[in-house]
This record gives sequence, structure tokens and C-alpha cells, in this order.
Amino acid sequence: MKGFYRTLAVVAIPAILSASLSFTKVFAEEPDANAIFAQLCALCHGADGKPTDQGKEFKSPDFTDKSWQASKTDEQLINSMTNGTDNPNYAPVAPFVKEMLGIDVDVKIFIPKVRSFGQ
Ligand code: HEC
Repeated sequence: MKGFYRTLAVVAIPAILSASLSFTKVFAEEPDANAIFAQLCALCHGADGKPTDQGKEFKSPDFTDKSWQASKTDEQLINSMTNGTDNPNYAPVAPFVKEMLGIDVDVKIFIPKVRSFGQ
């Protein structure tokens, strides 16, 4: 019986370790829009979607404003986040995330987050 447990330990422990390693890797490869928003975007957009003082200074929109939400299509938001806008305080989002957190994001991941503030 002892031999069985020893075999179990030898086989199972590396399996568990490698399972948890690949788990970590999945998270590292799929950026979490909520976490990134809280860390970076909330500086201007607020954790609650309402512009902070800093955001107001830069003329950030109020994401909780339903008429603002209705005035923009997802395509427009993606375009603004990809290319920036004519507001000189607004820079494209992906290079900003890359510079601050060292990760590549597809800006589309932020659409559900931004829309959630208007609901
Ligand atoms: C330094 C302040 C600042 C930070 C940080 C910031 N934004 Fe913004 N954001 C702005 C400003 C200012 C505007 C308004 C741009 C305009 O109206 O032309 C804006 C507008 C937007 C819009 C609306 C674009 C449109 O078409 O109206 C989206 C979506 C957005 N930001 C997403 C994000 C996301 C996602 C992040 C984090 C990765 C982020 N922003 C970080 C300042 C910021």
C-alpha cells in the first residue's frame, strides 16, 4: 500500500503543478478588461464610469450617461480607442496599456465594460 501512495505522489504532484501553471498562463494571455480598467482607465474614467477630476479636466465622457451611450456605436468606440480622437488628451488605448502593463490588448475587450456603466 505504501508503494501505491508513493507512486501517487510521484505522478499526481507534477500533474497538479503543471495544471496550475497552465492555469496561470491562460490568465496571463487573456487580459482582464475589469482589472485593466480598474488599474489604468479609472484614473480618468472613474471606477464607477463617471469622470474623475483628472478626467473632467481632459474632457472625458460620463460613461453612466445613457444619452452619451446612445450617441456612440461600438464601432465608433473601437475606432476612438484604436486611433485616438481629435481630443489631444486622448491617446490610443492599446499602446497605453502596453506601455503601462506590458501586455497586448485588443481594445474590443473594453466595450462590454464601457457599456456596463450605461445599464
Ligand atoms: C488620461 C486620461 C484617460 C485615461 C487614462 C483613459 N481615458 Fe478614455 N478617454 C479620455 C478622454 C479625455 C476621452 C474623450 C475623448 C474625446 O471625446 O474625444 C476618453 C474617451 C474614451 C472612450 C470614448 C471614445 C468615444 O468615441 O467617445 C472610451 C471607449 C475610452 N475612453 C476608453 C478608455 C479605456 C478602455 C481606457 C483604459 C485602457 C481609457 N479610456 C483610459 C481620457 C482617458
